[in-house]
Parts: sequence; structure tokens; C-alpha cells
Amino acid sequence: MINPADTVTIAVPSSMDKTRELVQKHLMNVSTPEYSQEQVIAYKERIKHLLKVHNAVIVAHYYTDPMIQALAEETGGCVADSLEMARFGQQHEAETLIVAGVKFMGETAKILTPEKQVFMPTQEATCSLDLGCPVDDFSAFCDQHVDREVVVYANTSAAVKARADWVVTSSIAVQVVDYLDSESKKIIWAPDKHLGNYVQRQTGADMLLWDGACIVHEEFKAQGIKQLKALYPKALVLVHPESPQSVVEVADVVGSTSQLIKASQTMDQDTFIVATDEGIFYKMQQLSPEKKFYIAPTGGNGATCRSCANCPWIAMNSLEKIVHALEQGTDEIHVDAELGRQAMIPLDRMLSFTAQ
Ligand code: 13P
Repeated sequence: MINPADTVTIAVPSSMDKTRELVQKHLMNVSTPEYSQEQVIAYKERIKHLLKVHNAVIVAHYYTDPMIQALAEETGGCVADSLEMARFGQQHEAETLIVAGVKFMGETAKILTPEKQVFMPTQEATCSLDLGCPVDDFSAFCDQHVDREVVVYANTSAAVKARADWVVTSSIAVQVVDYLDSESKKIIWAPDKHLGNYVQRQTGADMLLWDGACIVHEEFKAQGIKQLKALYPKALVLVHPESPQSVVEVADVVGSTSQLIKASQTMDQDTFIVATDEGIFYKMQQLSPEKKFYIAPTGGNGATCRSCANCPWIAMNSLEKIVHALEQGTDEIHVDAELGRQAMIPLDRMLSFTAQ
């Protein structure tokens, strides 16, 4: 077994500088809409009508605006983590998918169902992990370590997935790497170094980590959580593994969005401190209306922390943009057919692995 201290984090200085610039540039253009009650009702009615006309269904992530999550539920769509979103889109009979989330989720849906039309409310909704792993740099890195299995997080472009042997989400990352380790495989992991570090410590696998991070989770601070815990001593701390190690270390439960939601529902405690995007509170509160949820404190002054526990890109998904996509066919996802075929291989491995 490899000692966690042996984990090597590979820094890619030039591309990381470019990434920070890109992230900052994207963040400057992000704005979140506000609607009156009348507008909300009108948009929802239009969307319900348009979904029927286009034989379409909404596939939404737990981080999206509660209005979108509620609408997805009311109209027979799904609200889920990134793994279940992929599976739902693939299995549902609708001809058209409206994927409310960030770009990699729309691309994944298109790769898995090339015969369907896949739209997003806006393709500008991206992800710092995806931005932080440009395919050319990543491919060159893989070429230097051809003896390793390439495992990438779902939060990557179609091109990066096409370069990988395995795609995983946070729901199954530990199990997949554990399996590969039992087969004596050495691993390249990209792009989230915090999730990679967590997986490495859980499995003891030999992993080289790409130097990427999620701008939302990276801002949570262990010290702030401890202070909040002093105010609510009986609270349980739920942490998404994209958070830094110091934050994971103060967690009672570490898991994907669906695993954290399940913990909040099934555990006896009535108070929880939650370190992930606060969009998750909609589902937690819906399942346990009597319980109390507090967002874990963030640094607030990090270079890119504008949102603090609220992904600015996922917040770009709006009712108005769903209407646009359905009425005008804007923001349709296209993936090059050959690239899609290649990316399908590691995605299929992920889905088959979880189906076992
Ligand atoms: P989950 O797979 O846990 O839903 O996480 C997706 C994500 O992008 C977290 O930042």
C-alpha cells in the first residue's frame, strides 16, 4: 500500500495560470436573474406546454435553482447527482433532454444518447474543473505515463473523457479506484486534486493527481466549520469530497450530493452543517422539513470566491433560458461523432460498473 504522503501532485504551472485567468474572466460575465411571482408562474406554464410539444424532459442537478428543481419534479423529469442524471437521460424515452446543470452534464447526456436532441439553458454554464483540464496539456501528461490507467472525473470535457480509460463521479470514485488498485493498476487522476487526494487516502492506490479544483468547494474552511459546530454542538458535518483535506477531516459524513442528501434524511440528528453548494438544501429540506441545515462557512476572500457555496455557473440556469432553448432551439449540445464514440467507452465502463 502506498503511504498517502507518497501521493504526487503534479502542478502544471502555465496551464494553471491560464485557468485562473479564464475562471476570473468567466466569473465577470456571470449574472443571476431575479423574477417577480407573476413571471415565475408565466414561465413555468410556458415550459410545461413546450415540454409536451417537444416530447422533452428536464434533467436537473441538485445545485440548480429550487424553482428549476421543483419544475423538473412536477413535469416528470429528474433532480439528481451527476451519475443519476447520466443514467436518467440515457434511459428516459423522451426525444429531447433539457439538461439544467453545467456543460459537462449536457455533453455527457449527448454522448450517451447521440440520437436525442440535448439542450442546456445556457452552455456558458461551465465548471472550473473542466476549464482547468485542457485536453492538449492533459493528453501530453498522459503520454508521459503510458503505464497508468487514466481515470477522469465526470467534470471534464468530452475530449478529456475520450482520452480516458475510466470516467467516474464522486458517488463511485472510491469503488472504481479500489477495484483498479486490486488489479495492481497505477492511476492518473484528473482533474480534482482534492477528490483525488481523498480517493487516494481511502484506497491507498498509486495515483498521480492533476492540479485542478472546484472554486466553490475549495473555499470551505475547517476553522469556520469548527466555530459553527461550537454553536451547534449536536450538528453533524456533511462534506462533499471536492473540499480540501482539512475540511474532509472535520466531516462526519463525506460523500457525493446524493450520499449527503441520504445521510441528512436517514441520520437521527436534527441539525447539519453542510459543505457543498447550497442548492442542495432544496432537496434536504424537502425530505426532512423538521431538520435544520446550515451552510459551512467559506473563506470569502479567495481569489475566485465570488459566490461562496453557490456555483456562479450553475446559477446561470434560469426559467427564461429554458423557454429560449425550447422555443428557439438555442444552446443545443453537439459532440463530434468520433469523439463521442471514444468518450462513450469510459462512460459506459462507469455505468456498467455501477450496474453490477
Ligand atoms: P455530484 O456527482 O456529487 O452530484 O457532484 C457533481 C459536482 O459537480 C460537484 O461539484
